[in-house]
Amino acid sequence: MNDGGQRRYGPLGTTLVIIPTYNEAENIGSIVGRVRAAVPEAHVLVADDNSPDGTGKLADELAADDDQVKVLHRKGKEGLGAAYLAGFRWGLDNGYGVLVEMDADGSHQPEELPRLLTALKNADLVLGSRWVPGGRVVNWPKSREILSRGGSTYSRLLLDVPIRDVTGGYRAFRRETLEGLGMDEVASQGYCFQVDLAWRAVKAGFHVVEVPITFVERELGDSKMSRDIVAEALWRVTSWGVGSRVGKVLGKG
Ligand code: GDD
Ligand code: MN
Repeated sequence: MNDGGQRRYGPLGTTLVIIPTYNEAENIGSIVGRVRAAVPEAHVLVADDNSPDGTGKLADELAADDDQVKVLHRKGKEGLGAAYLAGFRWGLDNGYGVLVEMDADGSHQPEELPRLLTALKNADLVLGSRWVPGGRVVNWPKSREILSRGGSTYSRLLLDVPIRDVTGGYRAFRRETLEGLGMDEVASQGYCFQVDLAWRAVKAGFHVVEVPITFVERELGDSKMSRDIVAEALWRVTSWGVGSRVGKVLGKG
């Protein structure tokens, strides 16, 4: 998989930063402003699931004042994975060369995006990573850190993915990577979507690079993490892992 050193990569093309939102009214203005300041050439797509708190309307107001800000209104809450898939399709249809995943709550600092984009010059997929040297987390309760580290380790071992932070949600994809990893078969709704995509990229032979980031826990609004999301991740990752192991034993892997 790691042919990255030798391979010649094409130019990156225009970047679209996709920000999924569900009830992020307190955060949307600041995050969009920070992205626009940190990477002025990039465009922003807010993918809102009809947030009851009016995030979608605030996003429309930002878009009305700025040609580089767009809004994808979705009919209701369908999970982070579905919102990203819709955002990716929109970005591919509209000719963007780089598609970035970023949370709305400030956990993924837009000021670190130039570093991710620089790394993408020589990679197919760049993952912002909390769990490589230089990466860290600010203001997370210990319980959340254990869940995240545990989830990453469990996925890494079970799926054989050589990635330290496989659940992270700050990522930059080349369009060809998304086109090549079988996006149409992704069924993950919640945060295991992140594991799903990283695993697919590795299996498809793409060169995946982790870049250290500082993840800052949100100050405003609430996390959408729930028991259901953890349960979905656990059963899906376990069934992928078992399925691929059985496949290997039967000679189909
Ligand atoms: N459109 C839409 N629909 N957006 C959603 C939904 C949804 O159903 N659920 C969450 N979001 C948005 C939030 O509004 C936020 O912008 C982003 O997705 C992340 O949600 P948080 O609720 O803040 O996630 P988190 O901080 O608990 O989790 C983060 O870290 C995880 C790994 O530890 C995210 O980056 C996850 O992707 C990541 O797996
Ligand atoms: Mn968050």
